[in-house]
Amino acid sequence: MLPLPDYDFLPTGTHDEEAREGFCRELAVKLAADIRPPLQQAFESKIKPAFLAQHGRDPNFREIAKEMRVLPETRAWYRMRTDNQDRMYAVSGDMIGRQNKILAQHAKRASGTIGSLSLDPSVDMPRYLTSSDIHRKPGGYHLETIPDDVAPGAQYERTIAVHNMGSQGVNNDDPARSLACWIKETFPGLNPSNIIDLGCTIGNNTLPYKEVFPDAEVHGIDVSAPCLRYAHARACALGIDAQFHQMNAESMPFKDETFDIIVSRILLHETSAKALPKIIRECFRLLKPGGVMLHCDAPQFDSLTPYQASLRDWDATCNNEPFMLKVYDMSLEDLYQKCGFNRDRTFKHFVPGLFIKEQSIDPNATPGFSQSYFITGASKEP
Ligand SMILES: C[S@@+](CC[C@H](N)C(=O)[O-])C[C@H]1O[C@@H](n2cnc3c(N)ncnc32)[C@H](O)[C@@H]1O
Repeated sequence: MLPLPDYDFLPTGTHDEEAREGFCRELAVKLAADIRPPLQQAFESKIKPAFLAQHGRDPNFREIAKEMRVLPETRAWYRMRTDNQDRMYAVSGDMIGRQNKILAQHAKRASGTIGSLSLDPSVDMPRYLTSSDIHRKPGGYHLETIPDDVAPGAQYERTIAVHNMGSQGVNNDDPARSLACWIKETFPGLNPSNIIDLGCTIGNNTLPYKEVFPDAEVHGIDVSAPCLRYAHARACALGIDAQFHQMNAESMPFKDETFDIIVSRILLHETSAKALPKIIRECFRLLKPGGVMLHCDAPQFDSLTPYQASLRDWDATCNNEPFMLKVYDMSLEDLYQKCGFNRDRTFKHFVPGLFIKEQSIDPNATPGFSQSYFITGASKEP
């Protein structure tokens, strides 16, 4: 059984569907823990020495990926990951296909008790979200097929439960819980009154900011209406006051210097080379003096070895995340500076996760449990 929260707008599975989800999870762990590590031996013993002999230097991550991609063992690993991803979406897609009308009704009934939801049909979906099915999720984050649809949000919650399998708590909110506490400790004078989470999807990593900073107004924005409907219903079901808005982070209709804290989690790599500077410029504009911008995503490549960075090739080539390699390979400090932040006020850290500490979990003995979350950001000059 997946560790899942208990609200009636979350799709339920039959015994066999849940078994198939369990299989996806077990296979994902096996692929990461047993199938992937031997690939590094192939790199160290074959690819690297041959490259060095030919070019007189070590390969960079793109060159490693290019050479590794053609090995039969890498191709098998790519194929199995891709199939597993499709299987995971097929299972939750079957559940939702049967239940989407009732889920929409339940979500609507749960909504409106606390916080707010403001949808704006004039917000266009950016091309980088519509040109392919991101993560191979059919219809991406935005496809709506019935009135009041919440299906993409419901599917997001079900599939992150498969991915995380309890490793981020039952509400899948350990990243934001850990980061909100880190901000509170690191910037003790902040006392925020307004916080915003960009690309909030279902708000799982938005709500902890309200719990850690109860006096602040907490906002979540996303371009996807069905995810936001789900986010609002979910916040109501959990009794947490949050304001959700359909907006594009590239241009947000808030006044200058509205927010004390601006955060995002796994948003940046899903945008584009044109959109990203616009988003960071918006962060600078919307932050109050002394405010903090924090983006949590996978580690930048300068925090990894070239071989570790090359493992992201699957995400870019098979999992429809074409911007990923570019964004992880760029200097975000340079970008933040270009968008107005003082370089001396930028930061980059691995923030320890609270969940494994609270549960006394040994991450080395439990594959898939996060020890820390990678963040970059900057504070605006007071
Ligand atoms: C990977 S999900 C984020 C997940 C969520 N923050 C979490 O912690 O689980 C990326 C989200 O960003 C949204 N998004 C992408 N580009 C956006 C933009 N320019 N403005 C607002 N939302 C955007 C997508 O619709 C999607 O819901």
